[in-house]
Amino acid sequence: MNQQPMMPDPDRNLALELVRVTEAAAMAAARQMGRGDKIAADRAAVNAMRLMFNTVDMDGVVVIGEGEKDEAPMLYNGEHLGTGAAPQVDIAVDPIDGTRLTALGLPGAIAVVALAERGTMHNPEHLVYAQKIAVGPRAKGVIDINAPVKDNLAKVARALDKEIHDLTVVVLDRDRHTELIRQVRACGARIKLITDGDIAAALATTADDAGEDILMGIGGSPEAVIAAAALKCAGGEIQCKLWARDEKERIKALDLGLDLERVLTTDDLVSGHNVFFAATGITDGQLLAGVRYAGDKARSTSIVMRSLSGTTRRILSEHRLDKLKLLTNIYE
Ligand code: FBP
Repeated sequence: MNQQPMMPDPDRNLALELVRVTEAAAMAAARQMGRGDKIAADRAAVNAMRLMFNTVDMDGVVVIGEGEKDEAPMLYNGEHLGTGAAPQVDIAVDPIDGTRLTALGLPGAIAVVALAERGTMHNPEHLVYAQKIAVGPRAKGVIDINAPVKDNLAKVARALDKEIHDLTVVVLDRDRHTELIRQVRACGARIKLITDGDIAAALATTADDAGEDILMGIGGSPEAVIAAAALKCAGGEIQCKLWARDEKERIKALDLGLDLERVLTTDDLVSGHNVFFAATGITDGQLLAGVRYAGDKARSTSIVMRSLSGTTRRILSEHRLDKLKLLTNIYE
């Protein structure tokens, strides 16, 4: 008789609880869309996120908080979240990736969180920027951040069974990327310049229908850790190198013994095996629609993932604002 291998019992998928956290942040932030006030949008998202996090049974510590760079209201590094019950986890948050996009009503803003076992998320210290290259599952294993742009594009194109001129490379529209953009153009690849929001761009590389193949360039280092959590869950890959924006930061990094040439892989950024990720659209994006209102309802679109099982769920939620307003004031 064939003996079936013993499988562990299915356990709790925290990502399904985290989606309430990102939904709450997105709905709070979406109210601020187009009002021109980044700080107010961020504050609304942070408050909603904190409130919902504290309903989750977990003993969480924020390792990747957001806000230091822009002196924004923040879920600060070292803050404890959750009820204090097991499991012990590291938390990475970005209540709004794309505060400016939200304030201006532009596409691509998301609310996002990631969780992993305690002590498994990389802390980029004072270096708030990193050079990144990220791809989805089909191009995993072919990228090399130290290789010339043309080699990376050729290998990714081959992995995706495309010609280079059919590739879409996403790059933050920044002066520091003038040379990168020149090199990508010289290869004949297509470029999508984004004004903000490189977590959503990294996430989009994992979906065949999003039309974005590769993210390249320098963006936030906290965002790199969160993108690593997403890519780990989805089976993609990110490589990055911490980037000092000036001499002062470079010297401080050297004093701390940091190696700015070290390539940080997906596993270096998030080494845990049980990683959870959730994101909800605030404004319309490539992968996630923004929050929509109809009558007394709000509709949100989210993605939730877990690395252990490799499951990805897209969640479309309909929220009854009249009822929610009786429970909390975050949806005003
Ligand atoms: P915030 O919305 O949190 O400010 O971040 C937006 C963002 O575009 C990130 O997606 C990106 O990694 C980073 O800022 C790039 O930094 P900078 O705008 O300083 O170039």
